[in-house]
Amino acid sequence: MKPFNPKILRYESLASTNTEAARLALQGAEEGLSVVADEQTAGRGRLQRTWVSPKGAGLYFSILLRPTIPLNQWSLMTFMAALAVGDALLAASGLQTDIKWPNDILAGERKICGILAETIETNAGRALVIGIGINLTREAFPEDLAERATSVAEITNRRPERETILAALLQAISRWYSLLQESDGSRKIVAAWVSRSSYAEGKLVKVINGDETLRGITRGVEDDGALRLETETNGIRVVRSGDVVSVRAFT
Ligand code: BTN
Repeated sequence: MKPFNPKILRYESLASTNTEAARLALQGAEEGLSVVADEQTAGRGRLQRTWVSPKGAGLYFSILLRPTIPLNQWSLMTFMAALAVGDALLAASGLQTDIKWPNDILAGERKICGILAETIETNAGRALVIGIGINLTREAFPEDLAERATSVAEITNRRPERETILAALLQAISRWYSLLQESDGSRKIVAAWVSRSSYAEGKLVKVINGDETLRGITRGVEDDGALRLETETNGIRVVRSGDVVSVRAFT
């Protein structure tokens, strides 16, 4: 598998690095094109949420990829990105992280990074923009998230080096993306993800999906990354979307 050629475009301010990467994808940009901004004025999160992105407080990064794997495995692209973020934070900042399904990166049980993947139809075929937001300092997230979020600076007690994390992230994405595209790559990615996520197996959780809340015990993931949840009343449910919240006991 040919490794992608990272080309990094840097901006002081953008509405969203994902939007800019998608715009360039429509103009024919090659896979590996990466967009980084010091701040985002309209950063987006999963499930139509806002990703608050103050200047200098986070790594706001998007990469354009043009995967050739079967479409039913594209959902694993966020798994491979989560694995890459874990590697990058370990290599660049010595941080041990956990993954909360589907792709929140946690440090000390608080969210330190979010991942948003968006597909786009381009003249060169369907493409994917993977956006990654890493909280570098405490200023990255609003006060009301203080109990659920953290930052690299808070955990390491050091000033994070954005460029070092970015370089490690690009290297790690290249490695995991190549692995995903090998034969049997999807199985390896799922296995690696499961081994790095305390949420994959045996965790009491609530899954909130719109108006529906499911409670159960996690029982691994399907081949496409969907979460298997053993519920009290409905047996195993396969969850493809939603927010997972760890619960200590059922009420
Ligand atoms: C989430 O956890 O809800 C996903 C957050 C993804 C945020 C990143 S920051 C860089 C890129 N640009 C965006 O507008 N969003 C992603």
